[in-house]
Amino acid sequence: MATTAALKIDDKDYPLPVIVGTENEKAIDVRNLRAQTGFITLDDGYGNTGACTSDITFIDGDAGILRYRGYPIEQLAEQSGFVETAYLIINGHLPTPTERRKFGDLLREHSPVHSAMGHLFEGFPIGSHPMAILSALLNSLGCYYPHLATNKVQEDLANFDEAAAVAISKVRTIAAMSYRKSRGLPYIYPKRNLPYCENFLHMMFSQPYEDYVPTPEVTQALNLFLLLHADHEQNCSTSTVRMVASSGANLFASVAAGVCALWGPLHGGANQAVIEMLESIHAEGDDGSKFIESARAGKNGHRLMGFGHRVYKNYDPRAKIIKASFEKALASLHIKDDPLLAIARRLEEVALKDDYFLSRKLYPNVDFYSGLIMRALGIPQNMFTVMFAIGRMPGWIAHWKEVASNPKNKINRPRQIYVGPTVRNYVPIAQRG
Ligand code: CMC
Repeated sequence: MATTAALKIDDKDYPLPVIVGTENEKAIDVRNLRAQTGFITLDDGYGNTGACTSDITFIDGDAGILRYRGYPIEQLAEQSGFVETAYLIINGHLPTPTERRKFGDLLREHSPVHSAMGHLFEGFPIGSHPMAILSALLNSLGCYYPHLATNKVQEDLANFDEAAAVAISKVRTIAAMSYRKSRGLPYIYPKRNLPYCENFLHMMFSQPYEDYVPTPEVTQALNLFLLLHADHEQNCSTSTVRMVASSGANLFASVAAGVCALWGPLHGGANQAVIEMLESIHAEGDDGSKFIESARAGKNGHRLMGFGHRVYKNYDPRAKIIKASFEKALASLHIKDDPLLAIARRLEEVALKDDYFLSRKLYPNVDFYSGLIMRALGIPQNMFTVMFAIGRMPGWIAHWKEVASNPKNKINRPRQIYVGPTVRNYVPIAQRG
């Protein structure tokens, strides 16, 4: 395999180094391109651009492979849990029993939020989107833990384990509190004896007079949902976290920015968009056929939400796993006659045989099923993307650490090709027509 590639500009050859990853992924190293040639590369959407090297997650989109730190997602989904997988993603190895216990203790210790944070919730108007609240409150953690958010990278790294535990544990408490606030319900405090997922469901659904006790299938479905979302290499929100981290910003500021990037319907918002799509199809009395037709024609910007992926061009391995768990959770919750489910099944059946979708390699992604799972678990629609954020937190944290601990870190600063007006002279307002 060649170790250099050749670029020819105006008959002059420029050798460019070739970089090969451990899974044989190849890149042409253009780090010195501008200095050497005066040219930059243009790749809006970054579909052909490697922004970094990373040893956290490997994806082969064509083969439908996803691995965290080398472990296949299928094995982790079958044998691990969200908290252990979070440890793996952040620290690079599966925890020993002692490491696992210490990590669990740290998460337990940090599950409550500072009582003053309750006042922050009160400042938001009723009906505020919980993603806005989540982002604001995660960022505010730096005010409550100033020793973890100094914006001096070496100092922040020295207390990294604590900061990571604060972020993973409190994201779930803040999420549940933002839900309770949106419903006008009293906050339910975490219980020390409950595992991560059970504690979250307790804070969401218990009442002061009655504890909510989920079935094992419900807890398992939530655990799996979080695990499957725990990292996905250089997606929009993770790249945002890395971008912010590259400036030396603290962990909480960086993950708060990740929440904002995740909010959009083309990224984390897709699971909510799937349910909204199903509801509107149902309201129009369509069984899905008319919608497929309009998505195929690109009419009114219609897209089949939950289908397609920038990276997976075969199938999304997470979608396969979550679909199987979804069927189990539905059976345990005795859900049979949900009209939205029938529409989803019909859309999937039709799209998987349709030339338009097949020729563009558009297959169901994880969000096609995850919205339906959360709906079945009783999670309200505007909390779906928040659930994704809870799941993605370990990935964001691991990427923040990768950037912060890289001695060769450079602030991320892409360039552009300017296509606006060339120089022109200022005209005083009285002389403007
Ligand atoms: N429904 C109908 N047509 C589609 C869809 C869709 N869901 N997705 C892509 N296309 C068409 C698109 O119109 C284009 O057609 P043409 O070549 O005729 O112009 C072609 O497929 C390629 O589309 P693209 O927008 O260039 O593809 P992309 O790689 O930039 O977009 C995507 C990836 C996920 C943004 C897109 O497939 C999409 O909008 N899907 C629906 C939203 C969704 O489910 N998002 C969740 C992604 S998974 C969660 C995550 O990891 O963040």
